Formats: sequence, C-alpha cells, structure tokens
Amino acid sequence: MNQVDYLRVSLTDRCNFRCQYCMPEGAELNYLIKPQLLNDEELLTLIKEVFIPVGFTRFRLTGGEPLLRPGVVDLVRAIASLPQTQDIAMTTNGFLLAPIAQNLYDAGLKRINISLDSLDSQIFDAIIGNRGKGLWQQVWQGIQAAYSVGFDPLKLNVVVIPGVNDHEILDLAALTIEKQWHVRFIEFMPIGNGELFSDRGWVASAQLRQTISDRWGLTESQIPGNGPADIFQIPGAKGTLGFISQMSECFCDRCNRMRLSADGWLRPCLLNETGQIDLKTSLRDGVSTSQLQEQVKQLLTIKPEINFKQRDSGTINSYSRTMSQIGG
Ligand code: GTP
Ligand code: 5AD
Ligand code: SF4
Repeated sequence: MNQVDYLRVSLTDRCNFRCQYCMPEGAELNYLIKPQLLNDEELLTLIKEVFIPVGFTRFRLTGGEPLLRPGVVDLVRAIASLPQTQDIAMTTNGFLLAPIAQNLYDAGLKRINISLDSLDSQIFDAIIGNRGKGLWQQVWQGIQAAYSVGFDPLKLNVVVIPGVNDHEILDLAALTIEKQWHVRFIEFMPIGNGELFSDRGWVASAQLRQTISDRWGLTESQIPGNGPADIFQIPGAKGTLGFISQMSECFCDRCNRMRLSADGWLRPCLLNETGQIDLKTSLRDGVSTSQLQEQVKQLLTIKPEINFKQRDSGTINSYSRTMSQIGG
C-alpha cells in the first residue's frame, strides 16, 4: 500500500483570479466567512498534534490562492520549523508572489508550483477571467522572482484546454531548455466547470508528448517525481516536463495524499468525498487530539477503498465543487 504522508492544506477558498477551468465567472461560490476558516492556531494544532503523529511529514499550502491568507509567511515559518517537517511547498497563481518571494524562502519554503497557462498576455487574461489587463506581466515577475530567490524545484502548471492554449505547448515546453524549470501539462478535469469542459474537452498527455517528441525528442527522466506527474525531459534540457494525466490514466493507486480544506474538512481524495471528517468542529467541540488521530488513522485505513474508482466506467463525472474550494 502506498504511504500517505503528504497533506495538501488549503489556506483559503478565495482567489484573485477566476480561471475559467477552476472557478468560472458567474458561478455561485458561497465563500467561507472568517469564523468558518481554521485559524492559524487550530491549523498548527492539527498539524502538530494530529497529522504529524499519524505520519504526515510533507505539506503543501494551496487555496484558492494561498498568498491571500493574512500572515502566510508566519504560517510557513511555523510549519517549516517543526522538526518532523520534511517538505513544505506551495501552489500559487504567482500574482502576489514577487514582493514576498524572498520572505517565503527565508521562512523555510523551498519549492513552489505556479500556474502559467499561457505565454500570451491576451490569452492569459481571457483564461483568468478578464480580471484586468497586464496581469500576465505581474505573474511573470512572480515567476522570475521565485527563480532568482532560488526556489528549487520551480514548477509551472499548465492546464491544457483545446482551442485555447494547446497551440502553445511547444513554446511552454521550450521554457525548460535553458532554465531549470519544470513545466507540467495537466489534463483538464471536469471539476466545477461542466460547460467549458463539454464545449472544449481535454487533450491526452500522450498526444502532447508526441508533439514535443516530434520537435525535440523526449526521454523519460531519471529524476523521480513525488506526485501524480510522469516526468520526461527534452534531451539536453536543464528542466523537465511533467504530465498529469488524470483523464487518460488512473494514478489513484499511487496516491500519497489527503486534503485539508480551509474550513477544516479532511478529504481522502480529490474526486471522492466519502469518509471526510470535520476536524474543525471536533476541535472546537473539545474532542481530544488523540481521538482525532484515531479518526484520521481510520480514514487512512479505508483510503485505498475510497480512492476514485469510477474510472472503470471510462469517465469522470462533472463535479459541482470547484478546484478552488477543494484546494486543487
Ligand atoms: P508536487 O508533485 O509535490 O510538486 O505537487 P502536485 O503536482 O501534486 O501539486 P500541484 O498543486 O501543482 O497540483 C497539480 C495538479 O495535479 C492539480 O491541478 C491536479 O490536477 C493534480 N493533482 C494533484 N493531486 C491530485 C490527486 O490527488 N488526484 C488527482 N486526480 N489529481 C491531482
Ligand atoms: N483541471 C485540471 N487542473 C486544474 N486546476 C484547477 N482547476 C483544474 C481543472 N479543472 C489546477 C490549476 C493549479 C492546480 C492547483 O490545479 O492549474 O495549478
Ligand atoms: Fe485561482 Fe488557482 Fe483556481 Fe486559477 S486555478 S482561479 S489561480 S485557485
């Protein structure tokens, strides 16, 4: 059985972007209000007294957009300084990153994944929901800042949407040639975006690999990944290419993670909520952390049964909850 030691912690369900594939414009989002969120103290109690004792040692901070969380640098520092923490990472849209990249790094964050769906600022603006103009530039500055500060690995996430950004695959892949960046192409999933998905569909990773291989050749990388991505490399490139293929392949059997939502629900699987536990309410009701450990251990035991199984039918259904609400 796969060891489950990686916790994705959503710090907020809010986001300053509205990526069409994640939280489409006009969608009813019913944001959480502050009292519903785990506060810093509760979050740290859960990490120290529940998750670490049951074997979690790797943490990824997500959102919505995690940099919108007030005090995020202090939270990073608190988690990074725990002696049991082996890895602390973040997934961000990069918009607010440039001015605090150094502070985050100094606080102990050493690796970061940034969404970058296009190199064309107009396409980018359209994808992120026309929140204004020139936002691409600010994200690009965030990426450059992360690079110069020294985040390693620095991963760039591209959700591939047919007819929107799939013509940029080679340009995006080329970013890995000169720089030690890791570009990951993600198959578009029908989570909270049924209309765009049924309109556009998704592109299989195998097809992208063929396109890239026809241009430069492509070899399977010797550097192991620690998540759902299959890692490849353009021969001689400094960086790598990752392919996250949840639509065309099932990687649920190697799933190593659980998710803690911003309002304190522990979810065993991105695509299946069976068995989820409301840790925040229990904590506030005075349930002891040793009892919570037992509940999490129980959930870990049944996780392999819960991991998304509907693929056998050949499809992934549409989900009403958005990625920003689940934590990506
Ligand atoms: P590392 O490999 O640790 O760098 O992280 P990651 O790739 O898991 O993190 P990131 O937040 O960058 O996630 C990228 C994409 O991977 C997400 O958009 C999801 O599409 C996909 N993903 C991550 N975890 C899961 C999972 O448990 N199940 C599925 N189906 N997809 C996932
Ligand atoms: N399908 C695939 N990936 C998605 N993400 C958000 N929504 C979707 C979706 N519907 C990705 C973002 C971000 C990561 C956390 O999740 O690109 O990089
Ligand atoms: Fe925000 Fe990330 Fe969702 Fe885009 S993918 S709307 S950046 S949470």
